[in-house]
Order: sequence, then structure tokens, then C-alpha cells
Amino acid sequence: MALVYIEQLEDLDVEEMQQTHEDEVKLLNEIDKLATQHQMGQPTLEELEVKLNQYLVHVKEHFSNEEKLMRKYDFPSYEMHKMAHDIFLADLGYAVNQWKRTDNLEKITNFIRKSPEWIVLHINSVDAPTSAFIAKQMELEA
Ligand SMILES: [Fe+2]
Ligand SMILES: [Fe+2]
Repeated sequence: MALVYIEQLEDLDVEEMQQTHEDEVKLLNEIDKLATQHQMGQPTLEELEVKLNQYLVHVKEHFSNEEKLMRKYDFPSYEMHKMAHDIFLADLGYAVNQWKRTDNLEKITNFIRKSPEWIVLHINSVDAPTSAFIAKQMELEA
């Protein structure tokens, strides 16, 4: 069983947003799988750490690219959407700090395992209307 399924997410009209979400779901599931294997004593630590670092870069790029698109197309609820990103990044940063400070990998893997709840809700209730607005603006521009 995967941690999160692409089918749980709204399919967005803005292709780059959709692709980013699909890539992120893939990364989250890979991390979950490697963390389980690590917990069962398999030598996946190095691979897991690589994936965790990829995820940290990915999520920051994911949010900053969306914010760039919102600014480009003058999305009216930019501040609200950006604040949601900033709060998630602050929570994620806290989990990363705890992981590094205590060298306890579970501080970050537990956070990631709980994150789909936020991500699915954010994509379906915040990214979806944002994408609908941007797609319309893109069409007008074309
Ligand atoms: Fe998103
Ligand atoms: Fe977003």
C-alpha cells in the first residue's frame, strides 16, 4: 500500500503544477517504502537520506514555482496561498531541525508520513482553484 495515491488529487489544468504534484507523490511513496525497509533492518539508510534531501529541494521548488505563476497571472488570493506554503515549510523545517539535532530519522519520516493529509487537502482546496484561475489567464493570453 502506498502512502498517498495520485487518484486522491484533483487533476489540474496547469500541466506543470500537475506534473510537480505527481513527482511529489512519487517521492513521498519512495521515502515511505525506504523508511519501512530501514526500520526492518535493511541497508537503505543512504538511499533514504538521498530521497529525503530530494524531497526537501522538491517541495521548496514546488511552492516557489506556484508562487511565481500566481504573481505572473495576478492571482487575487496570492497572500493566502503563499501563507499556507510558508506554514507548511516552517513545520517541515522544524521536523528537519529535530532530525538533524537528535540524529533521529523518525522525526522527519513521521512528519512525512503525516503530510499527505495536508498535501491532499491543499492541492484539492487551494491549488485546484489557483490552477483553474491561471489556466483561464493562460488561455486569454494565448
Ligand atoms: Fe501544489
Ligand atoms: Fe500550493
